[in-house]
Amino acid sequence: MIKSYDVKDIDLADEGRRHIEWAEKEMPVLRLIRERFQQERPLEGLRISACLHVTSETASLARTLVAGGADVVVCASNPLSTQDDVAASLVAHEEIPVFAIKGEDNDTFHSHLESAMDHNPQITMDDGADLVTAVLKQRPDLIENMLGSTEETTTGLIRLRAMAAEGVIKFPVIAVNDSDTKHLFDNRYGTGQSTIDGIIRATNVLLAGKTFVVGGYGYCSRGIAERARGHGANVIVSEIDPVRALEAAMDGYRVMPMVEAAKVADFIVSATGNRDVIDADDFAVMKDGCIIANSGHFDVEIDIPALEEMSVEKRQPRASVDQYFLEDGREINLLGQGRLINLAAAEGHPSAVMDMSFANQALASEFLVQNKGKLANEVHGLPKEVDREIATLKLEAMGIEIEHLTPEQARYLASWEEGT
Ligand code: ADE
Repeated sequence: MIKSYDVKDIDLADEGRRHIEWAEKEMPVLRLIRERFQQERPLEGLRISACLHVTSETASLARTLVAGGADVVVCASNPLSTQDDVAASLVAHEEIPVFAIKGEDNDTFHSHLESAMDHNPQITMDDGADLVTAVLKQRPDLIENMLGSTEETTTGLIRLRAMAAEGVIKFPVIAVNDSDTKHLFDNRYGTGQSTIDGIIRATNVLLAGKTFVVGGYGYCSRGIAERARGHGANVIVSEIDPVRALEAAMDGYRVMPMVEAAKVADFIVSATGNRDVIDADDFAVMKDGCIIANSGHFDVEIDIPALEEMSVEKRQPRASVDQYFLEDGREINLLGQGRLINLAAAEGHPSAVMDMSFANQALASEFLVQNKGKLANEVHGLPKEVDREIATLKLEAMGIEIEHLTPEQARYLASWEEGT
């Protein structure tokens, strides 16, 4: 048994293993990659530190990397998203050092990042760019051994692209989020389902007939809007980008500024990647009892300090609900302390979408090995063939056949001479 790890309770390991096995039934693409990795060992001897949400799906990715020959350490990418039983199983059954405890405080979170850095990684994997940022700021001595890093989220990539623009990045970064088989599915269907799941688990409040406001209309927020509508809610979208706002309008949603939407909202959920999307001006006009949640990566989308300041009393009627009472007697219900609600109150994206996201992660680490020394210190997407391979495997696993071009069709598409 490994000695260095920090999990809540190692005795939860057997329960964790059952949950991992259950998730893996829905992860056929990653299983096929794991089987190939076992044969080919493309990551032999490679030290990987993964700073991800420690869930059963992440466990499946970690097992895949180990099957490929990697020496893996895992730490939490968010203080509230760890599944403690899964963390225990990774340690006890897979001998993977894990540093993650659900509900860990800020100091513990950072000490866990340090443990991941002490592994002296050659590849870092991030969900939000915290580990890369820590390497660059605190442990520049690690840079010379690094092949590169991979990033899972939109938010992380915003940070990494800002770093690249300032020339701060010292190794190549693979933008896993940019793969079509990641953001078109995980961000939309994953965030859509799991956010609604988190809200329902936290509140058990009916969505049908309610007014449900979504902050943003990127892939995550449009997934939430679509699924809220599916529950019979009246959905309003608030967006800063004119093209996305237009899309939302033509998809049939009402579109208006947040402060207008806040006046009529029963629920408001933000998933924009930006800060203060729901702020003091909105709290000032919200209906009594409004339920607010964040599904963006960081807990900055709701201005919680402003809410604290405006309230005279705070209660906790249910595990993931903080009820703030304002001076005028209105109550505002904040879910999951403003942390991403799909992981704070539910179990994150379903395994079937994480299958594709983590297939991209596994293939991104192989890509970094294959392209060692050849990639500039910038943010790179994975080649389109990786998307096609993952989509093909997923379709096969789902028993779906697709059409193939006839030679005449292929010729037609390649020619410019045929027209009217
Ligand atoms: N991000 C969102 N959902 C997730 C999950 N189930 N596992 C790991 N990372 C996630």
